[in-house]
Order: sequence, then structure tokens, then C-alpha cells
Amino acid sequence: MGSTVVVAMDGPSGSGKSSTSRAVAHRLGLRYLDTGAQFRALTAAVLDAGADLEDPDAIAAAAATTRVESGTDPQHPTITVDGVDVAARIRTQEVTDHVSAVASVPQVRQRLLDLQRAIIGDGGIVVEGRDIGSVVAPDAEVKLYLTADPAARAQRRTAENGAADVDATRADLLRRDSIDSGRATAPAVAPDGAVHLDTTPYTLDEVVEQVIALVRQQTDQH
Ligand code: DC
Repeated sequence: MGSTVVVAMDGPSGSGKSSTSRAVAHRLGLRYLDTGAQFRALTAAVLDAGADLEDPDAIAAAAATTRVESGTDPQHPTITVDGVDVAARIRTQEVTDHVSAVASVPQVRQRLLDLQRAIIGDGGIVVEGRDIGSVVAPDAEVKLYLTADPAARAQRRTAENGAADVDATRADLLRRDSIDSGRATAPAVAPDGAVHLDTTPYTLDEVVEQVIALVRQQTDQH
């Protein structure tokens, strides 16, 4: 696989984006960037700073001095805040509850946008998020928009998190969808020109095969 390709993978939580992105990157020898993890990392930092989460300026101020670093090996992605590993922390319910509010703040998005573009650099990467094909990498050769039924998404997330309550997980997913797609700056959208893939009926392996076929077709490399 050519080392300059950029694969933009957008879609809501539980659509299969993360597992698919990692597997595709690994199979094609590409790097992998989870931009949701970056928003989660800044959210953890904002919470630790004790910032008022109702106050966008306070969130922006707390985020401004925080250094987020992402390791892009698809088999061992890493995420640190000021040098501290936050991989476990960013999956806590506390962070999940507040990440959409933090991700709505324009200064937070700008800071991470600069970082994301620096990491993408000359390409050779699969990037997953909500605004990758629309804002972060609008020139990506391959753009995908993954979806799944809310019930399937909730089921997957519940299994991943070991959470007991599928209904509560589903309500939480829909609440975050609505904030993410309703915000003014870089709302979560299906990017223009993206290939839509509803993953509900497919296994992870089937989705990965479909995406790899698409990447090969669109980049004309076999
Ligand atoms: O993919 P995820 O659930 O880990 O993302 C966490 C949150 O971060 C999600 O609610 C929306 C936000 N996000 C975003 O606004 N833009 C991105 N490119 C990635 C995630």
C-alpha cells in the first residue's frame, strides 16, 4: 500500500469505526489515529483542572496548556496527556459524559486540528473521527462513513465496556450524537463524497474486507 494514502473514517460511536480502522491500518501497513481519543484526553485534562464545564472559556483555557500525544501503531495505539498514559482513563464514564461538551468548544477543536494535521503529515494513515473527511482531511483519497442501527451500536458498546444496561447505553449514544451533530464548529456529518457503509448486518471481518477492497479500488493499488 502506498505510504501517502489518507483514509478518513467517520461515523458515530458503536458504528464499528475503531475496530475497522485499526484492522485496516494493520493489514495495509498504515498508521492509525483515533481523534476521539484525543478529545477524550483533553476532556480528562479539563476535568482534572477542575474547570467549569458550563463555561467554554474555562474549558478552552484548561485545554490550551495541555499537551496531548498520540502513538499511531494500529496494534498498540497510545495516548498521553503531559506525558502521562491516559488510555484507561479516557474510557471512563466520567470522560464519556463530558466529552461532547468539551469537543463543542472551537478553541479545543482548533488545537486538536493542528495536532491532527501534523500527525497526518504526508499520509500513510487511517484517521477516525467525526469531522475527518469534512474538515481535518478533506482531500483524503478514501472517505468512509460507517453507521449502524442504534440497537446494534448500543449492543456493541455495552459488550466493549462491560456495562450492564443496554438501554442506558443507547440513550447515552443518542444524546452524544445529537450534541456532536448539532454543534456549530465542525459538526459530525457524513462528508461529501464519502462511501456509506451500514455495518449492522456484518461481522467485523466482513466490514474490514469491504473497506480494504474499497481502499485498493480508490487508490488503484493492488
Ligand atoms: O469516537 P469517540 O466516541 O471516542 O469520540 C468521543 C467524542 O469526541 C464524541 O462524542 C465526539 C467527539 N469527537 C469529535 O467531536 N470529533 C472527532 N473528530 C472525534 C471525536
